[in-house]
Amino acid sequence: MKGVILAGGTGSRLRPITHTGPKQLVPIANKPVLEYAIDDLRDAGITDIGIILGNKGRDAIQQYFGDGDDFGVDITYIVQGEPLGLAHAVGCARDFVGDESFVVYLGDDLMREGITELVEDFDADEYAAGIGLQEVDEPSRYGIVDVDENDNVVGLTEKPDDPPTNLALIGIYVFTPDIFPKIESLEPSWRGELEITEAIQALIDDGRRIQSHVVHGWWKDTGKPGDVVHANRLVLDDLQTDIRGTVEDDESITGRVELGEGSIIEEGAVVRGPVSIGEGTRIGSNAYIGPYTSIGDDSEVDNVHVESSVTIGENVITADRTIIDSLIGREASITSSKGRRPAGDRFVVGQNSSLEL
Ligand code: G1P
Repeated sequence: MKGVILAGGTGSRLRPITHTGPKQLVPIANKPVLEYAIDDLRDAGITDIGIILGNKGRDAIQQYFGDGDDFGVDITYIVQGEPLGLAHAVGCARDFVGDESFVVYLGDDLMREGITELVEDFDADEYAAGIGLQEVDEPSRYGIVDVDENDNVVGLTEKPDDPPTNLALIGIYVFTPDIFPKIESLEPSWRGELEITEAIQALIDDGRRIQSHVVHGWWKDTGKPGDVVHANRLVLDDLQTDIRGTVEDDESITGRVELGEGSIIEEGAVVRGPVSIGEGTRIGSNAYIGPYTSIGDDSEVDNVHVESSVTIGENVITADRTIIDSLIGREASITSSKGRRPAGDRFVVGQNSSLEL
């Protein structure tokens, strides 16, 4: 079976972070979101992977993943161009998948338990498609399925006003090539997109059966800044200690901490895991790094209290402040104005930034 990762989205809800880089490379515990999808496919035995790319951030994604060799997979890049919806993106994979069944994975989703069970359970003789589901609190934000008394899927609706269940499509699908004619016959939805949800509904309308699989471990879509911070917390919950850098004083660290090569935690610093620190980063002697924080590569952090936050990399964070639940973009700096006259905070804030002081 082949795998198709949909990575064509523009990341508009993740601005300003996505002004300078694609959302698919936003790091969660110092690993790009998209790499989690590649790992899950590979762990499910799928190494022939097509990545559907939009116009935005294409080069950066290709440069990072290359031909996939370093990640144990074989990657084919397929350009979608303008993102016209998930069904359009899946349609772009037609030549790549040929006449085999294939897995589709939304590139900004994270799933704790991976996809192996869902993929292994899929029965292409009985079903036209398989879908991953999970119960959600706000069903009108998702694609929702309706089921009969035997849990057979009888209908799907994208973001219903009046949801029949709270069982949401979580962005993992197994398709047979029978999906392609259905995609071709779609019209844009109310939000102007070709909806994969409607293509699956068209299979049901033809009398075909859809296999459902309720996924039990957590699942997180990383569409908005708050989601990235939340996903980071979820991933760090499973972090293993791995010290490749220098810890001047072991007393500095409690809990599980990952420290990349060339990084240093100076004597006097306090790091309370779970915390992930990238490569080439200095945690100074007056820094406090609290639980559920990821600090990126090549950064300097000192005189500051950072907790439950994600900093993407090449940051200078030396403000005399407590920073919590924050997402800090590449090359951003937060320094101290202490001693400067007139006293006060000084900002250079880019478009779509948000500051809560
Ligand atoms: C998409 C799908 C929706 C699914 C969701 C999962 O929504 O259209 O059916 O429930 O992903 O993340 P979107 O992220 O485009 O709003």
